[in-house]
Order: sequence, then structure tokens, then C-alpha cells
Amino acid sequence: NIYAELRKNSMGVNFSNDNELRAMAEAVNANAGPWTAAPLVPGAVVGAASAAIAVTNPADRRQTVGSYVSADSATVDKALSNAVAAQHNWDRLPAASRAAILEHAAEQLEARRGEFIALCVREAGKSLPDAIAEIREAADFLRYYATMARRLFGQPEQLPGPTGESNQLFLNGRGVFVCISPWNFPLAIFLGQVSAALAAGNAVIAKPAEQTSLIGHAAVKLLHDAGVPADVLQYLPGDGATVGAALTRDARVSGVAFTGSTDTAWAINRALAARNAPIAALIAETGGQNAMIADSSALPEQIVKDVIASAFQSAGQRCSAARVLFVQEDIADKVCNMLAGAMAELKVGDPGQLSTDVGPVIDEDAKKILVDHAARMDKDAKKIGEVALDPATTANGTFFAPRAYEIPSLATLTREVFGPVLHVIRWKGSELEQVVEQINATGYGLTLGIHSRINDTVDYIASHARVGNCYVNRNQIGAVVGVQPFGGENLSGTGPKAGGPHYLLRFAGERTLTINT
Ligand code: NAD
Ligand code: ALA
Repeated sequence: NIYAELRKNSMGVNFSNDNELRAMAEAVNANAGPWTAAPLVPGAVVGAASAAIAVTNPADRRQTVGSYVSADSATVDKALSNAVAAQHNWDRLPAASRAAILEHAAEQLEARRGEFIALCVREAGKSLPDAIAEIREAADFLRYYATMARRLFGQPEQLPGPTGESNQLFLNGRGVFVCISPWNFPLAIFLGQVSAALAAGNAVIAKPAEQTSLIGHAAVKLLHDAGVPADVLQYLPGDGATVGAALTRDARVSGVAFTGSTDTAWAINRALAARNAPIAALIAETGGQNAMIADSSALPEQIVKDVIASAFQSAGQRCSAARVLFVQEDIADKVCNMLAGAMAELKVGDPGQLSTDVGPVIDEDAKKILVDHAARMDKDAKKIGEVALDPATTANGTFFAPRAYEIPSLATLTREVFGPVLHVIRWKGSELEQVVEQINATGYGLTLGIHSRINDTVDYIASHARVGNCYVNRNQIGAVVGVQPFGGENLSGTGPKAGGPHYLLRFAGERTLTINT
């Protein structure tokens, strides 16, 4: 059955198997770079290697991981004309052929996972478990969209009609799709967007985040090696404000798949709308101001375990991460004490060590925003806990100590705080409605956690909170492809959900063919 087929998720690494762990450690050590990257655009004269931008390791800025050369405006133009010329033939391939290429790429990705894990650790500062999860999710996206392409694009839908007439509905690629991705899921989101656009029959121009250009390059080469033609998938590294903006204002672009901040989604939306060009499709997956609500029927141990994972895993650099814990006042003191105790056990440091819980943040800019926010909180809020940093392992990286603060209301937070900072708000049993109203009033609607053993409370929150992904009595991160389709509402995104059955449809056009036989 189709659902069983879609649920074959990638296996990852078995942490209880010493041989697997050793093989992974050896592969990571063997792949220390340096990596280099430049635009992959057939026929373009790429800028001189002397203009290369150095990439350093977030855990130790003294280490150079590699370098990349940005695309210039002539390369952007050449990529767009290549893509326009190549798209039709790619779209004419049977969906099953496109799907087979994506599945082959998934196999190759798993076979070469040591190399990709090493890149994720060294360029993006991912902890080993996060890097392994990244490879799994990327492989899942490749396989899921391959399966969905066969299912949706394999055959036209036969429609009813009068005798002597045949009516068929075909799905086809829209044209040239630009995929613009963030640094926090540099492989999974990057390959998810790209594979969906390719599966649906589009030519793709992939622009990675500046901070993770090397991972994007390796991912595009993986797809080329698996059989995607070089002019059907092109890699264009560079600044969002120059390369990204040049792509989104070009009339040759039929659609944009974007994941990143809400501000950038607005900028892209404006750029697309300002063109004197066919109306483009926009899929935007953006930020959140995610809450977890815990009432006094919930188990404090479970709340603390799940809020620690939701707020601090991946150094809080997940769009899904919990930023605010609403805890009912009857259990608030107990939960806050336990939270401080659990935070004291967190180890911040080298993401390449399995004993590390929290790695570095992505760069100096990200760290500065967090330091400024913490300075404001230190003045205006009550600190519940802060993890101690060991200078021996963190002095040369962009590390930021996870911390938790008690604040009076959600109005204290005006923006998404993208890092390991948790805010705690107490609420009284009579205030459930106001709590949900506060969450909805942020305008964001990505993830929500609920901890309660009262069914009516769970039903009330789940049916009134305007969020895309709601998790009950567990953590609220790590949506699984094909199992928990992921994406938000309102300021958090347009949908359709990544890893869900409707995602490919937004990358497709529809054509009806009526034949009078
Ligand atoms: P960002 O918006 O700064 O950058 C994202 C991408 O957009 C990058 O590739 C960047 O180069 C490009 N870009 C920037 N300005 C542009 C412009 N004017 N035109 C075209 N492209 C432009 O976001 P980020 O800092 O890389 O990522 C973190 C953000 O992403 C957070 O807000 C997080 O919540 C969000 N995010 C959302 C999801 C989701 O699925 N909803 C997943 C991961 C991250
Ligand atoms: N899909 C990612 C998660 O669920 C962002 O954490």
C-alpha cells in the first residue's frame, strides 16, 4: 500500500553498535577538507579563484574548512537562460525516470554519509546526532518526492465526458524554479526543495545560504552524479541581497521555493509581484514564535525533558524550536527548579564529539543578536538558568551559553530569537483562553507543544491554536518526512507542507486535454 511505501524512512546510525560508530568516526576524520565550491553553470565563465570567500569552522574560527566563489550577474543570467532551454526536455521525461534518479541519489547519499556528516559538522557546526539526522531527512525527502512524483505525475487523470470525447488532466513542471534555502538545514531543506522541484519537472537554480555554500555544492554534485543534467540543476552560491534578489526579480522565473526568515519571504514576495511577468508560485517556509503549554496534570519530568530538547537541541537554531514555555503556576516552581538542574547537565562544546549536547551558533552575527537579547533579558527578566561554558573547548568558536528566563508575557518578545534561549511564563488555571490568544496574537503559527493529561484541555488548545504542527506530550522538533508533514501558517509560511502529500502540487502546472475522437 502507498502509505507503507512512503513510510520507509532512512535508518541513520545505530549508536549501540560500536562498529557503526567507529566507521562513522573514521569517515568524519578522513574528511577534513578543505572543500572548494564555485557556481555550477554550463558555459559560464566563473570568477577567479582569488576572489574566493573563506569558510571557517563555527566551533573553531581558526580552522579554514574551505572556500567558495560567488556567482556574478553574468553567471546568474547564463544560469537562467540555460534553465529555460533545458526545462522542456526534463519535463518530457517520464516521471518514473526522474524518480529513479532521485532514488539513486538517496542511495549514494547514504553510502557517502561520512563525508556529508563531516561537512555538516565542520561547515554548519552541527552536532553528530544532528548531522546524522540531517542526512536521514535529506534521503527521506529524495525518496518521498520520488514516490509522490510516480504517483501524481505518472499518468494523466482520466475525466468523464460525453461519448466521442476524451478528457485528461496532466500535471507538468511550471518552468524554472529557484530554490533558496537557509543554513540551519543546509542539506535536508536544500535537497528537499530541489528534489521536489525536479520531481515535478522543473529546471532548478539552487541558491544555498552563504554560510553553508560548501554543503550546497556537494549536494548538487551528488544529484549530477546520480543523473540530473547539469543544465537542469544549477548551483548559484552568493549573497541573498545580490544573487538571491537578482534571481527573484527575473521574469524567466516561474516559481520560488524559499525557506528562511519572514523578512526575506516578504522581500521575495515583493520582488516577484513587481515583475512585469507571468505570475510566479511562491512557497515560503519561515520563522516562528513557538510555545509549549504545560498544565498541572502534566508530568514535570516529561515537560523538562521535552522542553530541553525542543529549546536547546541544535543550539536552538531550528524554526520549530520552543521559545516560550507556558507553565501552570501550581507546578511552575517545581518545573523551573528541575529545568535549571537539567540545564546544568548540558555540555556545550565540540560538535564532533558524541558527548556534546549543544554546538556553536552559526556565525558572529547570530551570536551578537543573542548576546544583545540576553543583555536585555538580564536587565528586565528573571534568570532561571544558564549553562556554563568551558573556555578550553569554546573560546575560539561562536558559542553561546543556553539560558532560560522568566518573563511576564509573550508581548515581551517582539521577534523570533533564533538560538538557545527559553522564556518561561506562568499562567493560572482560569487563563487557558488568554494563553492561546497570546500565542495566536504573535501572528506566527509554526509549532506548538502541549503537555496535559486532560483530553478537554488538549482538544481546546489544538483546535484553537493557529499553528501548522502541534505535538502532544512529547517534544516539538524533528518532524519526520511522510509522517509529520511540516510547515506553518500566517507569518510562518504559505504551505503546502514539506514532506507531505500535497507539496509537489505547488511545483506543478495543470493542463486539460480534450480530444473529440
Ligand atoms: P534568511 O532569510 O536570512 O536567509 C535565507 C536564504 O535567503 C539565504 O539563502 C539567503 O541568502 C537568502 N536571501 C536573503 N535575502 C534575500 C533576498 N533579498 N532575496 C532572495 N534571497 C535572499 O534566513 P536564515 O538566517 O538563513 O535562516 C534562519 C531563518 O529560517 C529563521 O527565521 C528560521 O525560523 C527560518 N527557517 C524556517 C524553516 C521552516 O521550515 N519554516 C526551516 C528552517 C529555517
Ligand atoms: N523540520 C524541522 C523540525 O521539525 C525544522 O524540527
